[in-house]
Amino acid sequence: MVTTPSLVRLPRFSRTERTLHWVHASAFLVLLASGLCLYLPSLAELIGRRPLLKDIHVYTALAWLAALALVLLAGDRRRLLATAREIDTFDADDRAWLRGRRTPQGRLNAGQKLNAIVTAALAVLFAVTGFFLWYGERNHAFRLQNALIVHDWLMYISFFLLLGHLYLSLINPGTRHSLSAITRGWVREDWALRHHPKWVEQMRQGER
Ligand code: HEM
Ligand code: HEM
Repeated sequence: MVTTPSLVRLPRFSRTERTLHWVHASAFLVLLASGLCLYLPSLAELIGRRPLLKDIHVYTALAWLAALALVLLAGDRRRLLATAREIDTFDADDRAWLRGRRTPQGRLNAGQKLNAIVTAALAVLFAVTGFFLWYGERNHAFRLQNALIVHDWLMYISFFLLLGHLYLSLINPGTRHSLSAITRGWVREDWALRHHPKWVEQMRQGER
């Protein structure tokens, strides 16, 4: 059956939510690239400027944390708080979805909620282990033996998570319309009805 795309647009992510996403994503990609150059001997040798790469890595980390704080201070905190509460709530449909049943989903499906929670946890763990790596070089009392190994493992986990995220948002035909949500802020109603029917229902009742 051929369905005509709806002309109705539903607002999906606010300006603050989109800014938060792109600030986090761009800093993360620079940290991943500079981190990989530090990690892989072949890349480190090819570039041959380890101190510069390390500076780029550490200053990007600082800029990342400062920019996140700025978005939280200057952005729509009430909306972010509501989104955080939404992410933290797993109803019966979400729990069934995680067990593999295609139950109707809200604005964010259970997989996206999990992705957001894991992403936030990884950011905190990266910052803590990164701090010990940096400060441990200056003050040996803070040198933790496993900080580097944990930092590397966080990189592996987030790398594979990112590959899945990029596949769903850029390649998979069924889901890639969501790119419109994170860039322009809106999605078509027919797409939302297929992927997030409970959210569309809430929108119609004026709740979200
Ligand atoms: C607040 C965030 C972060 C801070 C403060 C931080 C800090 C650091 C520091 C100080 C080093 C040690 C450099 C050296 O001595 O050679 C390092 C290495 C590294 N970082 Fe980060 N980092 C952060 C986030 C990230 C992120 C998000 C990634 C990847 C997605 C990442 C990947 C790496 C990798 C792969 C290395 C090389 C480890 C090795 O040589 O085995 N870092 N980081
Ligand atoms: C070029 C790179 C990226 C693209 C194209 C992209 C695309 C997207 C899209 C389209 C959405 C909205 C999905 C929806 O409609 O619900 C989204 C959400 C999200 N993105 Fe990204 N993203 C990128 C990089 C990143 C990075 C690097 C991270 C974290 C390290 C990240 C973390 C998230 C999270 C936590 C969400 C909300 C939960 C979810 O939808 O899974 N993104 N992204």
